[in-house]
Amino acid sequence: MAAARGQFNSRIGFIMAAAGSAVGLGNIWGFPTQAASNGGAAFLIVYLILAFCLAYPALMAELIIGRHAHANASKALEQIAPNRPTAMLGHGVGLAGLIVASLILSFYAIVAGWMIGFGLAALLKLVGFGDAALWLESFSTARNIGLMSVFMVLTIGIITQGVHGGIERWSERLMPMLLLSLVGLTLYVLTLPGATEGLRVYLLPDFSKAVSPDLVIKALGAAFFSLSLGVGTMLIYGSYISDDEHLPSLGGWVTLSDVSIAVLAGFLVLPAMYVAQHNGVAIFTDNGALLSEDTLIFTVLPALFDTMGSTGTLVALAFFFLMSIAALTSSISMLEVPVAYTVENTELARSKVTWVIGIVIGAISTTIILNFDWLFGLVITVTTRYSQPLLGFMFCIYAGWLWHRNTLLQELKKNDPNAESSVFWKIWPNYVRIVCPLIILGIFYQSL
Ligand code: PFF
Repeated sequence: MAAARGQFNSRIGFIMAAAGSAVGLGNIWGFPTQAASNGGAAFLIVYLILAFCLAYPALMAELIIGRHAHANASKALEQIAPNRPTAMLGHGVGLAGLIVASLILSFYAIVAGWMIGFGLAALLKLVGFGDAALWLESFSTARNIGLMSVFMVLTIGIITQGVHGGIERWSERLMPMLLLSLVGLTLYVLTLPGATEGLRVYLLPDFSKAVSPDLVIKALGAAFFSLSLGVGTMLIYGSYISDDEHLPSLGGWVTLSDVSIAVLAGFLVLPAMYVAQHNGVAIFTDNGALLSEDTLIFTVLPALFDTMGSTGTLVALAFFFLMSIAALTSSISMLEVPVAYTVENTELARSKVTWVIGIVIGAISTTIILNFDWLFGLVITVTTRYSQPLLGFMFCIYAGWLWHRNTLLQELKKNDPNAESSVFWKIWPNYVRIVCPLIILGIFYQSL
């Protein structure tokens, strides 16, 4: 018998958990770094347009399908398009999402490990173990594998506890603290010399440069990655929402909080880059490119904390601790994808399944670490820039074309007697059917 399905206890619990999935390294490590290396304001503008005009409608497709089917992505797509070919394709799309989610987790755990490392380093400095702290901040294979493993074990530990024991309880408490610390740090960095140059790059578009197809496809990947789309995570979270909830506004809150935190992180990281440069830290190469995108914030933020004197170490501790938590509330949503699929399709116990899958993903992470120079970037590009938008495209096709229109509208009306007069009702069903797929295809076509 399939295991009983969990459900979120409260509306705020769902928003926090879905926002917890959305808000993570993508917002604070991914988006600001990409903005910094792709023209600042130009990237910001394209990202904002894509987030609201494409990613939000695509998120709604996943949430609505998920809540209707109360199942994992494979089963849900089979259920809404039950004819043999579309059901088989749907199953395949769900499985592809499951593989992509696992691959994303395999690189994500490495970066999250760095967050834990810098947090622990701050702690060790406070208690006088400077050498050990230095090791944690170095870039060694042993450190990378060790910290990645710590992060994977934490992720596995939470997932074995199920939906509200684990995911909901954690997200509710720690997400607000992350927001507060980001706001505080941003306000502080803006008072430092050099910060205005960062603000200028971030906010003033350089109209002399055209927006390239390459920039657009990167922003597309960033928007899909940031909202956890295309891999079935949001569909599964949708399947845990009770029928009384108003989905369009729930999805709207999740999008708004995710995008706001990414934009806010830009106000922290870009100014901090120029503050660091002002203080003699090397950030750019001779021709103005970033020295290293992957580790940018691990150079820039510690340099920022150094400007705070002895309180800097405390602030570093708090910041990297909260970032590790933000990464955890995202990683649990990735691991939930293969775990939910396996638990719902077999007789196996949740905890056993979680451990086995977690260890396999840890092994993939280790392979990436051992071949870091070429594999790390490759996995990120393939999963986030290509797979997520293309799978998101498929979810839109299922919601817009293959799902019986009446059932879809019924699902939208479930707890909202006035649904038919809402703007969402009037626009979204055709938008997800025609506009979303066309935008995604158009962007891919341009970039070829
Ligand atoms: N949205 C997460 C972030 O911005 O860090 C990353 C992510 C989570 C991607 C869950 C995919 C996913 F399924």
